[in-house]
Amino acid sequence: MTGADPVLLSLTLPLASVIAILLVSIFWIYGRKNGADSKLPPGDKGWPIVGYIFSPFKPHPATTLGDYLNIQFSRYGKIFSIRYRGKTLVISADPEFNRFVLQNEQTLFQNNLPSGFKAFMGEGSLPFLAGDVYRSKKSLMVAFFNSWQIQSRFLAEVEEAAKAVMTSWRQRRQILADEEINKFLFNIAIAKAMGMTPDDPEVEELRKAFIAAYDGFYAVPTSLPFTRYSKALKARDIICSIVKRKAEDRMIRSDKMDEKENDLLWYCLKNSSLTSIQNICYEVVGFIFAALLNTQNTIALAIYLLGKCPKSLRQLRDEFKQNDTDALANLTWDAYKKMEFCQSVINETLRLGNIVPRLWRKTLSDVNYKGYIIPQGTTVMTHIAAMHLDPSAFENPNIFDPWRWLVIKKSNNWMPFGGGARHCIGSEIARIEIAVFLRHLILNYDYELVESDQPVASPLVKFSTGLPIRIHSVGKMTP
Ligand code: HEM
Repeated sequence: MTGADPVLLSLTLPLASVIAILLVSIFWIYGRKNGADSKLPPGDKGWPIVGYIFSPFKPHPATTLGDYLNIQFSRYGKIFSIRYRGKTLVISADPEFNRFVLQNEQTLFQNNLPSGFKAFMGEGSLPFLAGDVYRSKKSLMVAFFNSWQIQSRFLAEVEEAAKAVMTSWRQRRQILADEEINKFLFNIAIAKAMGMTPDDPEVEELRKAFIAAYDGFYAVPTSLPFTRYSKALKARDIICSIVKRKAEDRMIRSDKMDEKENDLLWYCLKNSSLTSIQNICYEVVGFIFAALLNTQNTIALAIYLLGKCPKSLRQLRDEFKQNDTDALANLTWDAYKKMEFCQSVINETLRLGNIVPRLWRKTLSDVNYKGYIIPQGTTVMTHIAAMHLDPSAFENPNIFDPWRWLVIKKSNNWMPFGGGARHCIGSEIARIEIAVFLRHLILNYDYELVESDQPVASPLVKFSTGLPIRIHSVGKMTP
């Protein structure tokens, strides 16, 4: 081996200097564009121009924020910005700013869900609409939800669905809680959406298609076959073809439609603005998605967290027993309203569990907030989980402590159902479903967690093996 070639050396040095000058200039221009001049919130911008190429958000235990966010919030404060694949992203754990964002929906901000959601729910479903079209569809949906006569009748329907699922466990020693909760919620949602009952052969096909479809929400969009994304698109086509067929059947016999058919399909057909088949499909699919995923994850997490905290499980069982002399009788509205500890368990699960970890918005114009200027078109993430896990708002935030809700009456950091114009319209329905499922589970069974499974936020909450639990029937089973 001889020494370095002098010709090569004489070329390398100037080339290296040119590259160095180029890099410094890029950093300088980029720094000016994204630094003090634009008055963006401070933050880690990653590589020049493109910023982060790979998502910095990695899967993490669902009762934590994950390392990346913990580090960024402690380094930059409650509002910071990053660049991700060439675009600026503002992330906020600040309750005041987050309320400002959600309350200025349609004026300064608009909804900006990741593209995967649009592919599956359809561009005409509620989360993707804006302006007058959004307002008129939302008021129709609110009226439809109100028509459920939520109180006692709905309570009885939910109880029937819980009993049907739990009766099928009689001969079993172990169940996959995720799957059983999904069946319970799907049976309620599909009845409300299209009047279908669990014995309809298409219900199971639809349920499986929905599971495959929401598995693709965050998958990388690709046309390659056998990927999660392509399977999800296929599932969406199956769902739409069934919904369309049901809608066409109803249209043919619309003049004979019975007032008792109080479901979403009937409601859409009655309202002239929703009568196109495509529109009806968006409504029904969007409604079932909204009705399932978050509630399913909350129930699964509650089972998990209660299983890890025997004292809370005992107290909940005592409350259920106290409020009903006969555990097998139907729950009355009065008894439901008295279940204070149950609501505390639900609140604490929603706080601790990253159920809806973040909401996505985009600025409609340059937004000036407390000295920051966030340019038009910037994505803003109101980070709900970061507010819920903020130690300055909740003592020992990573600990499951339902008792704290017996004291807390109001918290600015509490926003599990969003806020502003897009506040969840199913929050009360979800609370009833969660309470009823827990009541029937806990009064009819002792259960223990099969050790291996843990909830991971990725970004939606997932139990990798479906939350297996061992069950032992206690007392008489619900008929
Ligand atoms: C524990 C369960 C649930 C949680 C944590 C939850 C959470 C949320 C949140 C955070 C939003 C606001 C989204 C945003 O601002 O971008 C939302 C919207 C919505 N939720 Fe829920 N939800 C739950 C259950 C339900 C149920 C059971 C239904 C229906 C039966 C439902 C229907 C909707 C609808 C239709 C919207 C859209 C409102 C709009 O865009 O104006 N949700 N939900």
